[in-house]
Amino acid sequence: MKVLITGSSGQIGTNLAERLLADGHTPVGLDIRPNTWTGSFETILMDLAEPSPGAIEGLAESDFDCIVHLAAHAKVFELVENPSKAFENVRLLFHALEAARMGAVPFIFGSSREVYGDIMRATTEESHADFVVAESPYSASKIAGEAFVYSYGRCYGLRHLVFRFSNVYGRFDNDLERLERVVPLFIKRMIEDQPLTIYGPEKILDFTYVDDCVAGIAAGIERLVAGTVSNETFNLASGRGYTLSALVEIIGEAIGKKGQVTFEPTRPGEVTRYVADISKARRLLGYQPKTTLEKGVLKEIEWARAMQSS
Ligand SMILES: NC(=O)c1ccc[n+]([C@@H]2O[C@H](COP(=O)([O-])OP(=O)(O)OC[C@H]3O[C@@H](n4cnc5c(N)ncnc54)[C@H](O)[C@@H]3O)[C@@H](O)[C@H]2O)c1
Repeated sequence: MKVLITGSSGQIGTNLAERLLADGHTPVGLDIRPNTWTGSFETILMDLAEPSPGAIEGLAESDFDCIVHLAAHAKVFELVENPSKAFENVRLLFHALEAARMGAVPFIFGSSREVYGDIMRATTEESHADFVVAESPYSASKIAGEAFVYSYGRCYGLRHLVFRFSNVYGRFDNDLERLERVVPLFIKRMIEDQPLTIYGPEKILDFTYVDDCVAGIAAGIERLVAGTVSNETFNLASGRGYTLSALVEIIGEAIGKKGQVTFEPTRPGEVTRYVADISKARRLLGYQPKTTLEKGVLKEIEWARAMQSS
């Protein structure tokens, strides 16, 4: 299969492309910046927010079997401070979706648990989304994105899947200058004996090891292209919740240190409780997350150390 992955220089895109290569497929990346992790697949350099004339038509005519749209500004709090980037997320999605519509290419959208808002349920299943609750401009951009995808399904018969990710961590996530994510950030600070701040000690979140996330997307691509699963929305996460204090303890155990932690209130726009109900992905995609947070943190530390010494 030839699969276009937008946002392919980012964490999930890079891992997905490598997984597809390993499975014998041909991933083609598209990103505004080159891939700094690997040269193992082609990357089309393009600003998907402002594509040049004919660029989207060119993508539509490129015989892709599937388009996986992951390109986005993905930092929740940064988008609270700069909401125009959330609006740009919708433009990115729109252009990718137009390429899919023109070429009649099955489409996968990388959405987020942020579409649920901060609804404080024990576990959250897909039907719990209530689009009146938009916790932040980033949530709004994902809700708008999903709405566009569903509308293209209805109006143009575009076959699609939507995946709602949650705190994906692991390989290719530690370029902290670009994207400050909690797992690599805490690991780095604890290895360097620096203090760390937990915004919202009460937060309970669902952390997903990237190989599990990518296995779920790969299963989705196969079924969507084969026509056995279409027009469905899935939580793709671990199904287990951890507090951020528990995360610090797990990292501390793995590196043999105790974190120097300061607690601050949750910042505006942040979700404080999310544990995914993943039974639908298990049922329809055979999704089976394999990596506990304890094991995933160990793998991430190993990878970060290997990167440091290379
Ligand atoms: N990683 C997570 O925990 C998580 C959780 C929920 C949802 N998501 C969503 O999954 C997707 C992938 O996440 P990620 O962690 O790989 O993010 P990432 O930031 O690592 O990758 C996103 C990529 O999009 C690219 N991009 C941004 N603007 C662009 C433009 N104008 N044109 C072309 N490319 C552009 C960036 O350069 C980047 O490489 C995103 O849509 C994100 O919102 C991620």
